[in-house]
Amino acid sequence: MSGKPAFYITTPIYYVNDIPHIGHAYTTLACDVLARFKRLDGFDVMFLTGTDEHGQKVEKSAAAAGKTPIELCDQVSERFRELADFMNCSHDDFIRTTEQRHKLACQALWTKLMDNDQIYLDKYAGWYSVRDEAFYAETELTEINGEKVAPSGASVEWVEEESYFFRLSAWEDKLLEYYDGLDVTVLPKSRKNEVKSFVEGGLRDLSVSRTSFKWGIPVPGNDKHIMYVWIDALTNYMTAAGYPDMDSETFKKFWPADIHMVGKDIVRFHAVYWPAFLMAADIEPPKRVFAHGWWTNEGQKISKSVGNVIDPFQIVEEFGLDQVRYFLMREVPFGNDGDFNRQAMINRINSDLANDLGNLAQRSLSMIFKNCDGVMPSAGEFTDADNEILAAVDALLPKVRAHIDVQAINKSLEVIWNVVSGANVYFAGQEPWALKKTDPVRMETVLYTTAEIIRQVAILTQPIMPDSSAKLLDILKIPANERGFEQLGAGHRLAGGTAMDKPEGVFPRYVAEAN
Ligand code: MSP
Repeated sequence: MSGKPAFYITTPIYYVNDIPHIGHAYTTLACDVLARFKRLDGFDVMFLTGTDEHGQKVEKSAAAAGKTPIELCDQVSERFRELADFMNCSHDDFIRTTEQRHKLACQALWTKLMDNDQIYLDKYAGWYSVRDEAFYAETELTEINGEKVAPSGASVEWVEEESYFFRLSAWEDKLLEYYDGLDVTVLPKSRKNEVKSFVEGGLRDLSVSRTSFKWGIPVPGNDKHIMYVWIDALTNYMTAAGYPDMDSETFKKFWPADIHMVGKDIVRFHAVYWPAFLMAADIEPPKRVFAHGWWTNEGQKISKSVGNVIDPFQIVEEFGLDQVRYFLMREVPFGNDGDFNRQAMINRINSDLANDLGNLAQRSLSMIFKNCDGVMPSAGEFTDADNEILAAVDALLPKVRAHIDVQAINKSLEVIWNVVSGANVYFAGQEPWALKKTDPVRMETVLYTTAEIIRQVAILTQPIMPDSSAKLLDILKIPANERGFEQLGAGHRLAGGTAMDKPEGVFPRYVAEAN
């Protein structure tokens, strides 16, 4: 194995009762951006995604569709895999909870928890929501039209059955210590406070098995019981790292995970239940759980019943892949809710991409192609103006990295685009087209400086827009092994004298089709 530091990032695994929509694409995309960033920044990355295939909800959906559960799982899981590939995600593994490796991992974790006296057999009597696959206390429910509903709005049913329980109540203090650990955090802060007050409010033991359905992993030694789908689902993160073989190179290298990325609706499972299960099994809990917000569609909650589900395949067809990737990561402060709005998307495409970066690249590179015989000129003496804009681009990496380290993906883009704007002001102010006649040597220096900025910006935008950034770097003839972040800064300036490809526009304007 390489001596590089390890970085392990996961998406939630997606339920197969639903077809993939923009919310799923968003979570996976954010992880892809972080994974790509870390690889370019010298880390050995493991990026995991997959599907959550067990439980009552999936069993019911399959029955309603006239399929066996595994038929439904095979079909929908494949669709999620296609989505990840289609969005150009660079995951290293795609896990399905119906795989044998996962069954072994879940049963090993269960056995360890039993051995540690963390699970006992009793009887559950209380509320359960199949849609949320969650147990709720009476006090958490509200009433709508005389019917009890969960905080999420999902309906609940009364359940009374024999059940195994996990001693969650014993873990309050340890969980609170965990949240306050120096490196271990739930982000953003507001979510952390939510989780803390939930734990401070007192934890009850958690029912972790059911006897009323069959579609899941049997409890070792008592197969009348099926494991609660969340203990099964959460364990996927360890399965992919090689658990139960804790001595394997992969497990030692990648566990505990660096980031579990989740939507705000499933923080409790990841930041309360999961670290408690792990600590109870003498396993280190994850270093960070990051909760992102939810997308609405033109101001409305996205839902199948409203019929306003945004199909990621369709918007990528319409707007372009890197354009959609950029928009989703740029438009909304990562962690907040966001609204998917066509006009906002078009504005971002035309202003940030086509105008700011696209025009700068196309104008400067085609001037080099036409006026410098298609060969990258060398720089003459740099002026203050050249030095100022070069210093700004040279200083980007630590700023971008600081934002990425706290998953502020939108802010990392803001600082890059501040330099792109500065470069546009520089280019317009230097008027290289006028210098062509008056001072061709100076023109070459201005074009060289602009091309160097494009080189560095293209290296930095690879995590967000892998294809478009690669096109820019291809035009500049930057070899594949010179595109890592170690190539940023003043030490690796563009080499003059290199023949370039004829520049093609990389960021087209979006023009609405006339009806
Ligand atoms: N199967 C569980 C996760 C188990 S992880 C061990 C699950 N699956 S899900 O398919 O319902 O949701 C997966 C993710 O998609 C969640 O993080 C959820 O927050 C996210 N989103 C679903 N709709 C969304 C939006 N409208 N906007 C943003 N993200 C949303 O939960």
